[in-house]
Amino acid sequence: MTSTVITSDVHRAADILRKAGVVGMPTETVYGLAAIAEFEEAVARVFDIKGRPRNHPLIIHLSPTADLNHWGDFNQHATQLAKRFWPGPLTLLVPRTSRVPDWVTGGRDTVAIRVPSHPIAIALLTEVDTAVVAPSANLFGKVSPTRAEHVANDLGDAVDIVLDGGPCSVGVESTIVECVGDSVNILRPGAILRSEIEEVVGVDVGGTDGESRAPGMLVSHYAPNASVRLFSSISDALQEAEKLTEQHIAFTVIWHDDIREYAEHMYADLRHADELGHSVVLAVLPHGDGMAEAVRDRLQKAAAGH
Ligand code: TXA
Ligand code: MG
Repeated sequence: MTSTVITSDVHRAADILRKAGVVGMPTETVYGLAAIAEFEEAVARVFDIKGRPRNHPLIIHLSPTADLNHWGDFNQHATQLAKRFWPGPLTLLVPRTSRVPDWVTGGRDTVAIRVPSHPIAIALLTEVDTAVVAPSANLFGKVSPTRAEHVANDLGDAVDIVLDGGPCSVGVESTIVECVGDSVNILRPGAILRSEIEEVVGVDVGGTDGESRAPGMLVSHYAPNASVRLFSSISDALQEAEKLTEQHIAFTVIWHDDIREYAEHMYADLRHADELGHSVVLAVLPHGDGMAEAVRDRLQKAAAGH
């Protein structure tokens, strides 16, 4: 379908990054669109390929052996969280050092940092041995990619190469936690849960509600072409499904009993509905806190697209 190169050759991908190229990078959460943070033109290409506004700051990704203090000012809370959850699906928002380029943070005085746990991401980051920006490798506002083919299908040969790391095991983007001053706030829910964070820092953690301080957390996001309708139970969704069948409207039902599985497959399910040309997705919102919070957050944003 596309002429995109998909490879499992980490050295080749590292070489492309060092030559200021742009690489589809697997992580345990979603695939990222990677470029070396210090290369202004490579980072500009990342924004252009995604169609993302330049003032939406990027996350820098580091290898587990990187010197964190090089890039950010880690207070006690940030240090505790990094120790406990890295490598893993957590992003820490901390005051930046002068080393972090303005084109990464949109001129903000904070920087978002993550050490991913995917072995291929670790191999790539270790080999280039510097900070790598990687927003999710989807077009702005669209569904995030959880397989190498998703990246190739979305971005085609605008990306120099896609490094194949298989399907992402987590399936939703990292939990973003702001550690600035004394407070700890979750700006985006993900696989690292509020309860786990509170246990580590020993203080109450603020929420994602209200005005988000992370630009890019728009109300509408993660949206497929199909219109997404939300239901609070599978029986409600099936009732609607019957009506659509009578009206000869093609639809996909999205629901998984196990919440980790729901997160893992949600984006691929949304993409599959589009591949089938279905005009409607009936998605069942999971109940409860923990990972269900992250799944609800993404589904609600996907539904807000229409
Ligand atoms: O799981 C993930 O975090 C994936 C993988 C590829 O690592 N990356 C990802 O990146 O989700 P992206 O760019 O799609 O989402 C990053 C979010 C954006 O909403 C951005 O606004 C916010 O992080 N962010 C980054 N730096 C920030 C900063 N300095 N202040 C506030 N928000 C920031
Ligand atoms: Mg994204």
